[in-house]
Amino acid sequence: MTDTALPFPPSFLWGTATAAHQVEGYNTQNDWWAFEQRPGAIYHGHRSGRACDWWANAEQDFDLMAAMGHNSHRLSVEWSRIEPQEGRFDPEAIACYRAMLGGLRRRGIEPMVTLFHFSSPLWLARQGGWQNPAVVPLFRRFVRHTVQELGDLVRLWCTINEPNVYAALGHLFGEHPPGVKSVPAYFRALRLQLLAHAAAYRVIHALDGRAQVGLVKNVPIFEPAGRGAAIPARIVDHLFNEVTLRAVQDGRLSWPLSAVPVTHGALGDSIDFVGVNYYTRWLVGLRPGNRGLLHPRPGAECSDCGRGGTYGEIYPAGMRRVLARVARLGKPIYVTENGLPDADDDQRPCFLLTHLAEMHRAMAQGADVRGYYHWTFVDNFEWSEGWNLRFGLVALDPETQARTPRRSAELFSRIARQNAITPEMVQEFAPEAGEQVWRRA
Ligand code: GCO
Repeated sequence: MTDTALPFPPSFLWGTATAAHQVEGYNTQNDWWAFEQRPGAIYHGHRSGRACDWWANAEQDFDLMAAMGHNSHRLSVEWSRIEPQEGRFDPEAIACYRAMLGGLRRRGIEPMVTLFHFSSPLWLARQGGWQNPAVVPLFRRFVRHTVQELGDLVRLWCTINEPNVYAALGHLFGEHPPGVKSVPAYFRALRLQLLAHAAAYRVIHALDGRAQVGLVKNVPIFEPAGRGAAIPARIVDHLFNEVTLRAVQDGRLSWPLSAVPVTHGALGDSIDFVGVNYYTRWLVGLRPGNRGLLHPRPGAECSDCGRGGTYGEIYPAGMRRVLARVARLGKPIYVTENGLPDADDDQRPCFLLTHLAEMHRAMAQGADVRGYYHWTFVDNFEWSEGWNLRFGLVALDPETQARTPRRSAELFSRIARQNAITPEMVQEFAPEAGEQVWRRA
C-alpha cells in the first residue's frame, strides 16, 4: 500500500456539471415544465419553479466555483429558450447565454456546453419529439444557430446527454416526458438521437475547426446477479451500452437499432471525445427489482433512496472498469458526470476520493482522461425525484435560495487546486477511504 500523492496531468479540468432545466428556473416553454404539471409525475408534487435561479443570476455560483478553484464547468443550453417557436430564434436568450459563458471565462472557468440535456421545446414535443425523424434536421438547425452565436466562447461541445437514459426513462419506464412505455419507442428515440448527434457533430466542425465535440454516455456496470443471469446481463449491456458505443465508433447501427446492420457514414468517427457519466453498478437478475431486472448487490453500501428505491450501489472500482472499456475507442475521455445523492454529506467525501483514485488508476493504465465534472455543483431539480435527492457539493434551500457549501465542497476544492489526491486529504476527510485509495492497482 503506498500513500504518496496521486497527481493528475497538468491542464486537467476540474469542475461540476449541471443542466439547464435543473438549474435555470422558469423554463416554461419545454416539455419538462408541462410534464411536471401532471399529477403524480414528480415526487410529492415538487416543481422546478425557480430552480437555482441561474437564468436571473448564475454568476453568484460562478463566483463560488472560482473561489473553490474549479477551472471548468459543464452546463447545457435550453433549446426552448433559444428557439421558443419553430424557426424563430430569440436574441435575448442568446445574449443571456453569452453573459453566462463570458462570466465563466472571465473567472478562468472553461465552459463545456451540452446542446441537448433531456428537455425539448413544446413545439417539438407536439410534433412527436424524438419519435419524429424530422427532429434530426430540426436539431441540426438549432445547433447551427447556437454554435454560430456562441461558438467564439465555447471549445468543448457535448451534443446529446445520455441518449440511452433519455430514451429509457421517457419511453420504457414512462418516468420522463413523453411518459410512454414502449420498446419500439425506446429504440426509435435512441436511433434518432444518435443520428442527431452525428448531424450536430458535422455542423459544428463545419463552423469551427477548433471545436472538440463529444457524445455523453452514461455507462453503468451490468453484472449477472447469479449463475443463470449471465445471458440477461449480456443482453442488457448490449442494448444499453455496446450498441451506442459501437455506433459512434464505427457508425454501425446493429439490431435492434436497425432491422439489418447498416453503417451510417455520418455516424462513424463522430466523436472527438467521449463524455462518460459513471454512477453505479447494477446486478441483472430474474428476481423483481425496482426496475424489474436491475438491483444493487445485496448488502452493498448504497446512496440515498428516491421513490424508485436506492439511486444505486456505491462501486468505485466501476469507474476504472468503465474508463478502461471506453478507452478502447481510442479517443480522449472526460468524466462528464459522477456523484451521488447524499443530503447529509456523510458518504460523499469517501465517494469522491475512492472514485478519483480509481480514475487515476485507469489513467495510469492508459485511459486518456482530460477532465472530471462532479454531478453536481449545487442541489438542483432532480427530474421526477424533484428536490428529494440532493447531489450538490453545495446545499440549496430552493425557497430562500440560500447556499451552504457541504464539507465535500472543501475537499473537492483542495483536489482541484492541488490537482492531486494527497494523504492529508484522505486523513482529514475520509480515513476510511485509505485502503481503496492507496492500494496498488
Ligand atoms: C442524468 C442526468 C442528470 C441527473 C444526474 C443525477 O444522468 O440523469 O445527466 O441530469 O440529474 O445524473 O441523476
